[in-house]
Amino acid sequence: MREIERQAGEVFRTVGMNSVADDEPLGLEVLRGYVERGQAWVIADHADVPVAYLLAGVVDGAGHVEQVSVIPGHARQGLGRVLLDHACEWALDNGLKAVTLTTFANIPWNAPYYERCGFRRLSADELTPGLLRIRREEAEHGLDAWPRVCMRRLMAEPNILEQP
Ligand SMILES: CC(C)(COP(=O)(O)OP(=O)(O)OC[C@H]1O[C@@H](n2cnc3c(N)ncnc32)[C@H](O)[C@@H]1OP(=O)(O)O)[C@@H](O)C(=O)NCCC(=O)NCCS
Repeated sequence: MREIERQAGEVFRTVGMNSVADDEPLGLEVLRGYVERGQAWVIADHADVPVAYLLAGVVDGAGHVEQVSVIPGHARQGLGRVLLDHACEWALDNGLKAVTLTTFANIPWNAPYYERCGFRRLSADELTPGLLRIRREEAEHGLDAWPRVCMRRLMAEPNILEQP
């Protein structure tokens, strides 16, 4: 997962966001925590080598995508969407009716991409305390050098999905 993160982050250099590309991936102990809680998923290639992963958590009663990354050689083949859809199913299975994330507002493979995956940009008055905390931490980490946004995808109630 750390290696996927490093390679996936390289694309930020193409838009001058070198500090984002240079950001160290999460540590092994943190990653192990996600795995042990059942909140980490990888997609592996034909040789069983992981090429994409997603980490999720729970923030204020909603699933929250902490990280999603696809190794460049496997990008733009729908793996990101498969992982996002899977995280939404996981949230629904756990009684969570929405999934949130924070991302860069103007980067083509971030907010505009998530919009195509069913996420909507949240306005300031829609931010829950947990999302505000995450945004504060991101600002302290220097990420607000570029516009950031919180997004949410609402999921239909299971009984609505089951209707013919
Ligand atoms: C964002 C990310 C996870 C999407 O995964 P993916 O498997 O490539 O996504 P999908 O195949 O489902 O969809 C691809 C779409 O993303 C957008 N996209 C992906 N890479 C792009 C790039 N380099 N430039 C412009 N748009 C891009 C496009 O809309 C693309 O659709 P298209 O190929 O039809 O034009 C992946 O691009 C990635 O790891 N990026 C770097 C790390 C990152 O930004 N993570 C998210 C942090 S919030």
